Amino acid sequence: MNGAGNTRNPIIGILMGSDSDWPIMQAAARILKDFDVPYEARVLSAHRTPDLAIDYAAGARDRGLRCIIAGAGGAAHLAGILAAKTIIPVLGVPIPSKHLQGLDSLLSIVQMPKGIPVATFAIGEGGAANAALAAVAILAGTDATLAEKLTVFRVTQAEKVLEAKLPDL
Ligand code: RP5
Repeated sequence: MNGAGNTRNPIIGILMGSDSDWPIMQAAARILKDFDVPYEARVLSAHRTPDLAIDYAAGARDRGLRCIIAGAGGAAHLAGILAAKTIIPVLGVPIPSKHLQGLDSLLSIVQMPKGIPVATFAIGEGGAANAALAAVAILAGTDATLAEKLTVFRVTQAEKVLEAKLPDL
């Protein structure tokens, strides 16, 4: 799993605590791919590989990363530990968990104490996709081409809603 989607000069890092998170986190990768945003995807765990997770965050900005999207499940401290070691935005994705369906992940990620923010998204695939869209929006602040692509994405989405046909009874 480490290395999935890697490009030469990634500007977004997608991290996840386990390769079991990939079915959810690939929704973030897919959005970044669609927007032609160079990203890297890696598995690093806050509790199984804490030193490596900390090193990753500490070096992220110097390596050119502009955001980190971090998915984890259960007592999900990955996003928080990364945010503690970098000033680039960390976007947290709660992974659905076996026993509490991701409510544990959500509360673990969203309840960061004051001073070290983690922007927290919805549980699961939608949250992963939205985290990537938020990363695109952040980049679009200084990238006119990406801003235009994001605008087109929104228009296309709106058109799909307006074209929706409900079945006759
Ligand atoms: C967390 O524990 C991971 O983010 C994953 O969501 C969860 C379960 O991991 P595995 O037991 O599937 O490796 O660290």
